[in-house]
Amino acid sequence: MKHLLSINDLSKESALDLLNLAVEMQQVNTRDIKKLPALTGRTVANLFFEDSTRTRISFELAARRLSADVINFSAKGSSVSKGESLKDTVQTLEAMGVEALIVRHNHSGAVNTIANSDWSKAVVINAGDGTHEHPTQALLDSLTIRQRVSGLENKGDLSGLRILIVGDILHSRVARSNLLLLRKLGATAAVSAPPTLIPSTIANYCDEVYFDLDEALSNKFDVVMMLRIQSERMNSAFMPNSSEYSFGWGLGDTRFSKLSKDTLIMHPGPMNRGLEISSKAADSEQSAILDQVTNGVAVRMAVLYKLLAQEKKND
Ligand code: CP
Repeated sequence: MKHLLSINDLSKESALDLLNLAVEMQQVNTRDIKKLPALTGRTVANLFFEDSTRTRISFELAARRLSADVINFSAKGSSVSKGESLKDTVQTLEAMGVEALIVRHNHSGAVNTIANSDWSKAVVINAGDGTHEHPTQALLDSLTIRQRVSGLENKGDLSGLRILIVGDILHSRVARSNLLLLRKLGATAAVSAPPTLIPSTIANYCDEVYFDLDEALSNKFDVVMMLRIQSERMNSAFMPNSSEYSFGWGLGDTRFSKLSKDTLIMHPGPMNRGLEISSKAADSEQSAILDQVTNGVAVRMAVLYKLLAQEKKND
């Protein structure tokens, strides 16, 4: 595997390898000196054409913990505003010796375009492209589910677990990557959302679909993963208004109080508190939202190690 563009790039075995390598990276992250020499002398670039807090910072931290030099490029404030093309931006970084491009872009497929071009020899990692995929988010979510639901000792798959993803499935690259990975790892993956926010092809990559959230929640799930309403990607009225969405589809205080105490609550962030999730639910002991953020660093260390350090050893 040269790049990580999609969960489809991973077999079940290679996904489990990455999760188990991430567990080793978690151990590094609990030491006094949180550093490995694996990428000393190597340069990676965060190439972000769309805003990010968690993904950009955790990739930067992951690369630094592996001793790489890190360049942070964001389209805002760069020569992109003067009309510089994607190709010229990539080639400019290549000319400075960048060996890995961690790319977030608002257009689905832009990351594949870079990886499949002859613009650069760099390793390309998808940090979220449009409504397409966000593979490292799915990996960190599966690691979080495995550790919080099945226990820290579990090094296997997610067989027997039931995961419900709720909300704006249509615009969510997180949902797409998660559905692919959860099923690859043997879990039952379900979605719940208003019909306007579910893609017509959902049956191809999901086990159960619920248009009624309360009906879905009556079918016991181990994990309920809430999604952000992606207003910036909505160019028409996908829901009547935010209070109606919240009443029908939000994990508010009333729905949260009816959930079994062992149901894990997740959200990839950033959250719209009060719209798709209440503060009581998000800040509860059942919530794994901050674990997801913590695990993001270890998972991204594992991905960078695998693609840059291990591949070099295999050359
Ligand atoms: N989950 C996620 O991708 O968050 P950011 O947009 O903050 O990176």
